[in-house]
Amino acid sequence: MNARTSAARAARAALVALPLFANACGSEPDAAPQDPTLIFGPTPAVDEDRRADVVAVSLRATSTTLEVAPGLSGAFTTYSGKLPGPLIRAKRGDTLRVHFENTLDEPTTIHWHGVRVPNSMDGAPDVSQPPVPPGGTFDYAFQLPDAGLFWYHPHYDSVKGLGGGMYGALLVSDPAEPSDIGDEVVLVLSDASLDDAGSATASTPDLKTLLAGREGSTLLVNGKVYPTLQATPGRRQRWRVLNAARSRYFKLGLSGHAFTLIGGDGGLNGQVSEVAEPLIVPGERLDLVITPKGDPGERIDLMSVAYSRGMPLAPSKPEALLQVELVAGSPSSAATLPALPSNVRALDTSGASSVAISLTTSADSGELQMGINGVPFGESEPIHAKVLDTQVWEVENKTPYSHPFHLHGFFFQPLDDSDVPLEPIAQKDTLDIGPLSRRRFVVSYDDRPGMWMFHCHILDHAEAGMMGMIHLAH
Ligand code: C2O
Ligand code: CU
Repeated sequence: MNARTSAARAARAALVALPLFANACGSEPDAAPQDPTLIFGPTPAVDEDRRADVVAVSLRATSTTLEVAPGLSGAFTTYSGKLPGPLIRAKRGDTLRVHFENTLDEPTTIHWHGVRVPNSMDGAPDVSQPPVPPGGTFDYAFQLPDAGLFWYHPHYDSVKGLGGGMYGALLVSDPAEPSDIGDEVVLVLSDASLDDAGSATASTPDLKTLLAGREGSTLLVNGKVYPTLQATPGRRQRWRVLNAARSRYFKLGLSGHAFTLIGGDGGLNGQVSEVAEPLIVPGERLDLVITPKGDPGERIDLMSVAYSRGMPLAPSKPEALLQVELVAGSPSSAATLPALPSNVRALDTSGASSVAISLTTSADSGELQMGINGVPFGESEPIHAKVLDTQVWEVENKTPYSHPFHLHGFFFQPLDDSDVPLEPIAQKDTLDIGPLSRRRFVVSYDDRPGMWMFHCHILDHAEAGMMGMIHLAH
């Protein structure tokens, strides 16, 4: 141990011995078990309803000029002028009401990605909800049956919408979870490109760009370039991470640290697992715990490490997303992660019917055409299912690059080739399907009939036709 380190350790020990220090900062994690303290995240939405089990917020789609880094401003389309949109917080079982107003000069909708909403609240134009016209309003109202990090975004011209800044997170906490998992952090990852006119809305792309999907040149965490997150050595943080980018994959690396993966899209996993460099694909969420290591004053970059999502796309370059700055303070009261009350059980696949689809592309016409089973969305027929059915799906990617497959309205559990659940058992709504590979999963439908979409969450691919529908009937 060098002199600098031991001096820093001594300083830290002195601060640890002063518990009032942490209280004065308001950072004690167990102050309100139902509403864990959020130490870092997007601007929270205001709850306009005083009832304990109702959260009511207003969201307005609007054009806004924002500064994403000192000296770097641009014209974004946002929810309520914020990038990301306001962070909505609720508890499992609450009712969420959202008064939505569209002040843009084109139609839009809100899709509640991952939330098991009634079909009429799902925000898919022509499938479940008519678009909200310019100047129009819509009142969303539904229960939040699951805990986890969910998100909202438009489902109308969504490449433009998300690229322009329309995305926000919905954090549903679970009062049954222990309060000392870690200090809550929400990280909404995205990217943006400001064109010469300072607009975040991308111009007309060429075929090669569409094949990869449009990526922004600037990485954003909670709408900022390279922000600083403070962390205390030995004091656990629970990172709820959302990939809200249109196309970019993020593989996360934090030098000297491993991540404990505790959950994802649909709440806690069946098991806790260690991951060195977790991958998060567009649309997906990760629930990670880190125990910061090092000495106060040290700074560690959270990296987006190099990653290749297949041919012929260029691998991403390593880039810093966020700076973790170590500061003195008190460590977590218990040195080990508390036992987690996961209620995820492996779904029974006996008696399940099977569905096999493939993700396809063709470029004959000089125009990018993507599809499901060779058929673009506009010409596709729905897959049929009955409420309370269980289906085992096999999704085969016939292209040499990855696709993040997303199913609306329902969670599914990934399986191996012999239909054994993959561990950790996870409730997913978004799953990476690697180049020229296949993934199997089981989905069990509850009683929410209607037309539900599935699609690639690289939104240029969805727009090029890689979307389909499930017709769920009684
Ligand atoms: Cu997050 Cu249909 O998408
Ligand atoms: Cu795709």
